[in-house]
Amino acid sequence: MLRITGKTDVYGIFGFPVKHSLSPLMQTAAFEALGIDAVYVPFEVNPDNLGGAVSGLRAMNIKGINVTVPLKEKIVPFLDRIDEVAAFLGAVNTVKNENGVLSGYNTDGDGFVDSLEEEGVDVRGKTVLLIGAGGSGKAVAFALLKRGAGRVIIANRTLDRAVALSEKLKSYGDVEAISLEDVERVLSSADLIVNTTSVGMRETDPPLFDYEVIPPSVVVVDIIYKPFKTELLKVAEGKGAKIINGLGMLVHQGARAFRIWTGKEPPVDVMKRVILEQL
Ligand code: ATR
Repeated sequence: MLRITGKTDVYGIFGFPVKHSLSPLMQTAAFEALGIDAVYVPFEVNPDNLGGAVSGLRAMNIKGINVTVPLKEKIVPFLDRIDEVAAFLGAVNTVKNENGVLSGYNTDGDGFVDSLEEEGVDVRGKTVLLIGAGGSGKAVAFALLKRGAGRVIIANRTLDRAVALSEKLKSYGDVEAISLEDVERVLSSADLIVNTTSVGMRETDPPLFDYEVIPPSVVVVDIIYKPFKTELLKVAEGKGAKIINGLGMLVHQGARAFRIWTGKEPPVDVMKRVILEQL
């Protein structure tokens, strides 16, 4: 049972809204599993109050936080240091407080690639068809290239955004931007298809492209985990493709945050189990 004392360290998550977040459950379970005297709580931070909330981390010696929508970009100017990944992305999902010095990190993209590795999928040399050019797409594309993907084809509804993202990424590897309408043209060259858009969260969402043309040889990944199996994953599975949902990314971005804060190996299985029980 959770036992809070005067020595208990405080961690948390900033979001607006934050009620839906599974991180408090997952991180608290991780602290408990390792016998670390710490709690992790949700902080509903209105974007207008973000500066005050960040000052509060220093003032109250809160040891670390995760940051979620819509604060990931907005928090950057309030921090003292930003690591290379977060600087490139212009977005932070993890903050560590060391004696009032706040360092920002972004574990989303690497958490994504970790989740593929856990499923036995090696991205090195692979061609990835990545759908979406928003914040999630950027984090995932950057991590894929940094971890050795051979080629990333970014397909987006708004072609200009895909082009802009590919320009930013081109010094890190082989990147191409295409319009969503052209997805079917490149499907046969892809080893992996990754959906980083919000399409599929609602049952009424129209498909991104004709999923029936997905070949069985491809690995299909959706960063959505609610629903657990999106229409994209359902159809891909029916076609014989290997499918991976966003649960692993959620767990592994959290695992990396845990490692940054504690320096300890995160209990990934425990973290995954408590989320599975909740979903
Ligand atoms: P996030 O930070 O979660 O990635 P975002 O920056 O708002 O959110 O990006 C959302 C992504 O989903 C974008 O690539 C967006 O495409 P556009 O750039 O054309 O807006 C994509 N997206 C959202 N709804 C979509 C839809 N109905 N069809 C196709 N793409 C969609």
